[in-house]
Amino acid sequence: MTTEKRPTIEALTALLADDMTQVNQVILDRMGSDVPMIPQLANHLIAAGGKRMRPLLCLAGAYAHLGKQTITDSRVLLLSAAVEFIHNATLLHDDVIDESDKRRGRDTANALWGNEASVLVGDFLFARAFELMVETDDIGVLGMLSSASARITEGEVKQMTMAGKPDSPLQDYLDVITGKTAILFAAAISSGARVVGADAKLVDALHNYGLALGMAFQIVDDALDYRSDLAEMGKNSGDDFMDGKITMPVIYAFEDGTEEERAFWMRTIGEGVIEEGDFEKAVTLLESHKAIDRALSSARTYAEDAISSLEAISDDVLKSALTDAAYYTVARTL
Ligand code: IPE
Ligand code: IPE
Ligand code: MG
Ligand code: MG
Repeated sequence: MTTEKRPTIEALTALLADDMTQVNQVILDRMGSDVPMIPQLANHLIAAGGKRMRPLLCLAGAYAHLGKQTITDSRVLLLSAAVEFIHNATLLHDDVIDESDKRRGRDTANALWGNEASVLVGDFLFARAFELMVETDDIGVLGMLSSASARITEGEVKQMTMAGKPDSPLQDYLDVITGKTAILFAAAISSGARVVGADAKLVDALHNYGLALGMAFQIVDDALDYRSDLAEMGKNSGDDFMDGKITMPVIYAFEDGTEEERAFWMRTIGEGVIEEGDFEKAVTLLESHKAIDRALSSARTYAEDAISSLEAISDDVLKSALTDAAYYTVARTL
């Protein structure tokens, strides 16, 4: 048996380990509240870990300008924590909307505490994120992350209005994932650079890197929903199909489908009439049109775009770690 070596984000994690320890401390400190249910619920999600990609990107943005040194500018740490809070707030809300049971290998907060508590604690984390951003005293980064937060919600709402429409144009899907995922990746890394005083050229290049990386990341996440399993992903696969969510593989398979295949997609994803064996049939149809492979290949193109934006970075170690992060994004299984 050959052992396949997958790209990892370890280089980035190792490079930023000391700073991430401090960011995690800020996260723990700022999760607190006198209302016990808030830290209980928030901690259930946050202590489960997650990849912490967005705060890592935020720190990487600062390094791209400052060069490798332990960050002494506490505003970067506040901003990184804010970005992870925004992400976790959207996850709490997203799991309610998607009626998901599993997240980061655990039962979701909505499964344990109910929808109302999850929505409210999500609001709390959003609000805390804004407090942290205000403390950076940088109206520019506050603007970037406020706009990103609005765009995330726009993406989620647009996705909701597309649900059940397998005949949707690919561009609509791309708009959805730009909003709900890519913009936060872009804002995380570019705001990290901006808060330490990077010039517009570097900030823009990093924004482009984050945007393309985020697109690749979500396309892969959506493809894995038809190929992975709970043990690997820490969340249930097949949820998108059950929810009537329109993702890239479905759009491709519908476009290329016969009349009978289109009728299958219309009954299942379109009308929500799902019978035993339909998910397996959906996977077979997707595979027969190479729809998952085509989605993964589109993700690779975005990852390559991301890498080409790294020209602007002068530090070779950081550049190589961010290059690996892009390859990891398209090779990941979780
Ligand atoms: C999950 O994001 C939501 C998507 C954009 C697909 P991550 O996969 O980064 O989640 P965690 O933080 O690592 O759990
Ligand atoms: C991720 O969307 C949520 C946001 C980016 C706001 P998904 O619904 O596709 O992600 P998972 O699969 O639940 O992590
Ligand atoms: Mg979801
Ligand atoms: Mg969702």
